[in-house]
Amino acid sequence: MMTKDIFVPISLESIEPLIFPDVALYIKTGGNYVLYKSNGRDFSDHDHERLSKNGVGFVFVSKDDMDVITSHMEASAERLLKGHLLNAQAKGKMIYQTSINFVNDIFTNPEKSTDLHRTKRLIENLMLYLSNNPDAITSLETVMSHNYYTFVHSLQVASLALLMHSESYSLSRDEMLDVGTGAILHDFGKIFVPQEILNKSGKLSEDEINILRRHPEEGYIYLESKGVLSPVALSIVRLHHERCDGSGYPLGLESREIPRSAQITGIADVYCTLTTDNRGSKTMPPHIAVQLMRNQMKSLFSPTLLDILEKLVCTEDIQQFLL
Ligand SMILES: [Fe+2]
Repeated sequence: MMTKDIFVPISLESIEPLIFPDVALYIKTGGNYVLYKSNGRDFSDHDHERLSKNGVGFVFVSKDDMDVITSHMEASAERLLKGHLLNAQAKGKMIYQTSINFVNDIFTNPEKSTDLHRTKRLIENLMLYLSNNPDAITSLETVMSHNYYTFVHSLQVASLALLMHSESYSLSRDEMLDVGTGAILHDFGKIFVPQEILNKSGKLSEDEINILRRHPEEGYIYLESKGVLSPVALSIVRLHHERCDGSGYPLGLESREIPRSAQITGIADVYCTLTTDNRGSKTMPPHIAVQLMRNQMKSLFSPTLLDILEKLVCTEDIQQFLL
């Protein structure tokens, strides 16, 4: 799940020349990282243009510089999302980049998950982006092929869960923030699962499955002990693998006992797993995935919630009304 690489990719479009933090930037050529700009030299509009013309989509920075870059990007995100400087696709890349930085950060430093102010700001920006871009899902999907599965997956699930809530239920802004926070942290408990199990390509043994299945409860116990997440967000972390027929885990609850937000996040989780592989590539068209969930996983999900999913992902002209 975590990169052993000392370089981290940053999408070129999320970099604002001149005000981007002064760090060394690298580009990747033939598998090698080559210094493009050293610390102390400005990154100008001209640099930006030149790289863009040469088809460079990502520059790379040292892992050690990520703290300063992440705070800069998170502080600028709202201004950029509201402004006209960036087009919809560039805004998508930026929200993607800040979300990836965030998820990467909390999976590496679990104690940072208690910074609720930061989490809320990220979800607010994600909501702002989704609400202003009718093709938000497509835009996000097109930029999601350059990172690690768990990070990409967390962001996809949070986006889809927010859209499903906004499509059919009128939640307050605070409730939406709780849903987004729970959804982006839904797999947080995977930090307690050994890498060998998470990254295993073959079939998991029964013991390994049991260890993997502890992640909702362990994530819940950890985050609950920090005392900063709302009950709604915590229930999403704990109950996103519960299923309507009682076959889910950790508690084996049945439909009416599973909070709606946890059911929606569970559906978003399965849908995203079916449609995107662990390298971020598309694997199954939306309508096939929905059909499969309706037929082969019939007893697992609420038909009403599947209708909402279908309406969202199988309609080309998606409109979102989040705010
Ligand atoms: Fe999970």
